[in-house]
Amino acid sequence: MCGIFGYTGQRQAQDLVLQGLKHLEYRGYDSSGIAVQNGGSSISIEKTHGKIRNLEELLKTHPIKGTTAIGHTRWATHGMPSRENAHPHADSSSHIAVVHNGIIENFFDLKKTLEGEGVKFRSETDTEVVAHLIGKYYRGNLENAVRRALREIKGTYAIAVLSSAEPDKIVAARWDSPLVLGVGERENYLASDVAALLDHTQRVVYLDNGDVVTITPAGSSINDLNGRPVKRETVKITWNVAQAKKGGYEHYMLKEIFEQPGIVGAILSERLKGQKVRFDELTIKPARLARADKVVIIACGTAYHAGLVAKYFIEELTDLPVWVDTSSEFRYRDPKLDKRTVVITISQSGETADTLAGLREARKKGAATVSVCNVLGSTIARESEGVIYTHAGPEIAVASTKAYTAQLTVLYLLALYFAQLRGTLDAKRTKRLISELLRVPALMQRILDRYKKDRQEWADNAHDFNRRYHEALSKYVESDPQRRKRSPSGFFLYLGRNINYPTALEGALKLKEISYIPAEGYPAGEMKHGPIALIDENPWVICIAPKSRTYDKMISNIQEIRARGGCIIPVVTEGDTEIHRLQPMYLIEIPEIDELFSPLLTIVPLQLLAYSVAREFGEDIDQPRNLAKSVTVE
Ligand code: AGP
Repeated sequence: MCGIFGYTGQRQAQDLVLQGLKHLEYRGYDSSGIAVQNGGSSISIEKTHGKIRNLEELLKTHPIKGTTAIGHTRWATHGMPSRENAHPHADSSSHIAVVHNGIIENFFDLKKTLEGEGVKFRSETDTEVVAHLIGKYYRGNLENAVRRALREIKGTYAIAVLSSAEPDKIVAARWDSPLVLGVGERENYLASDVAALLDHTQRVVYLDNGDVVTITPAGSSINDLNGRPVKRETVKITWNVAQAKKGGYEHYMLKEIFEQPGIVGAILSERLKGQKVRFDELTIKPARLARADKVVIIACGTAYHAGLVAKYFIEELTDLPVWVDTSSEFRYRDPKLDKRTVVITISQSGETADTLAGLREARKKGAATVSVCNVLGSTIARESEGVIYTHAGPEIAVASTKAYTAQLTVLYLLALYFAQLRGTLDAKRTKRLISELLRVPALMQRILDRYKKDRQEWADNAHDFNRRYHEALSKYVESDPQRRKRSPSGFFLYLGRNINYPTALEGALKLKEISYIPAEGYPAGEMKHGPIALIDENPWVICIAPKSRTYDKMISNIQEIRARGGCIIPVVTEGDTEIHRLQPMYLIEIPEIDELFSPLLTIVPLQLLAYSVAREFGEDIDQPRNLAKSVTVE
C-alpha cells in the first residue's frame, strides 16, 4: 500500500520527509519521491524507482532546500514500477505537485477528457490525472482547486498537494484511504498512518471520508468537499512505533485478517459496473477466452486452495471444464494443453518459482495465460498474456489471509466474466449472483466485529484448548507406552464438502503453518476411507457445515465422529439448531449466504482460530519457522 508523508514548519523538510517515509516502508513499495516547496515560486521534485536509499543517494547530489514538502512510497496499482510512474506527479505547469494513495476508478475517462483538452501525460498512473485536474481548476486558491477536482473523481484516495504559488501550505484529502494529521509546535505533519508521526508528535487527528485539510506551520483547518468547516478530535497516541506499524494490532496477520472486508469491497466496486464485470487491465482478447474449451488453474499453497474453490464456481457458472494442479506437479507432468486452453496462474507474490515454471510451460504449449497477482509488475504478471491484480496491498505476514479472499473475489468475478462472454448465465441469475456477492464485505465485517466483541472468549477458548490438548497428549502416550515411539495423535482434522472442501485444506494450512500443530484437510466423504481410524478422544475435528446441499451429509459425518468420542468444532450458519444436539467443543457461526459464496466467509473464523491458537501457544505468528513469504526457489 502506498505511503504518504508531509511536513510544513520551521525546519528543513527534506530529511524529515525521508525519515517519515522510512517509517512507512513496511507497507511495501517499489519507488519513492519527494516534492519540496522552495519558499519562492517553484517546487522541486526528485523521485526514483526502488528503495528509499536510492532517493537518498539522489538527494545527496541534488539536495532540495525548503521547509514544506510531501513525500511518497509507491505500491504500484496502475502503471509499472518506474521513475516516471513514481510520485509526486505535477500538472503541466509544474506549479502543482500531488502524492496519492488509492485507486481512481474513472481515470480512463478523465484522462481521455484531459488529453482532449491538450494535456500531455508523462506517466501511466491514475494519480497524474489528479495533478492535471487541480492545475486546471487552480485560480489562486489551492483548497478550492482540490475540492473542485475531487468532485470529479470516483474511487479511493488519500492525497497531499503543494502549489508553488502558496508557500508553507499543504492541502490534503481522503476517501476510503487512510490519512492522519500530526499536530506539532509551529509545525504540522500528514501521514498515511501513525507510525510515521511518532518521532515528532503523539497528538494526531484521524481524517475522515470527505475531509479536505489545509495545514501551515501555524495550524490546520478542515472542511468538507463543499467547503463547510468540519470538527475533528485530536487524540493522544500511546502506541510505540512497532505497534503503530501494525495499526495497533498485535500482529500483521490479525491486521490483514481485518483488512479483508475493505479489500473485497474495493475489488467489487472497481470491477463491477452494474451487472457487468470489467477487467480494464486484462489485455488478453475476450474472443480468445470466449473460444476456450477448458480452464487449467495452477498455483501453490493458499493460492492453490483458491484455485480449487474456483473450480467449483467456474464449472457451475460456465460450460468450461476446470482442472486444478499444484504448480510443482503441473510442470513435471505432460499436461495436454493447446490454444483453446486458458491457464490461470494464481500467485500473491507473482514470483513463486514453480508457478512461474508452470506458466512458461503453458505458454510453450500455446495456451492462453491469465495470472491473478497482487504485486504489480511481478515476473508472473509480466510473463502472462493477461493479468488481473488483486490490489490487496502488501501482505506482510507469511500466512496468507487477505490475499486469499482477494484471489477468491477476483476469481468469482472472472467466472462471471467468462459467463458474460460465453452467454452461459441469464440476466436474472446474473443479477441475483451479483447482489449476493455484494453482500460479502458486510457479512465478513460482521464476523470480525463479533470476534472483536468476543475476543476474550476466543482467547479463553484457546487457553482451554491448550490445557485439553496437552492433557490429552500426555494421557494418550501414558495409556499405551508403545505409542511413545509414534508421534502423538494430537492433531486437527478439517472436514468440508463440495465448495468448502478447499476451505478445509486452507484452514488446516493456516493452523499448521503458524502453530506447528499437525493439521490435515480432508473431503468429509472420505472419512470412512481412512481418517476415521484416527478418531478417538484426541483428534479435534473442524467440521465446515454451513447451510448447503451437503449439510445433512456433514451432520452424518459429525455423528460418526461423536460416536467415537472425537471433539468437534463445527462452522455452521447462524441459527443452526441441529448442531447443539451434537455437543460441539466450541461452536463457530457465520452469517447466512448462498453456498456458492460461502468460502469467502467460512475461511475467516478459521483464520482467527489459527491465529488464536498460535498466539496462545506463543509462536512467532508473522514469521513462522522454516517459511518464506515468497518461495522463489524450487
Ligand atoms: C500460505 O499461507 C503460504 N504463505 C504459502 O502457501 C503461499 O500461499 C504459497 O507459497 C504461494 O505463494 P504465492 O501466492 O506468492 O505464489
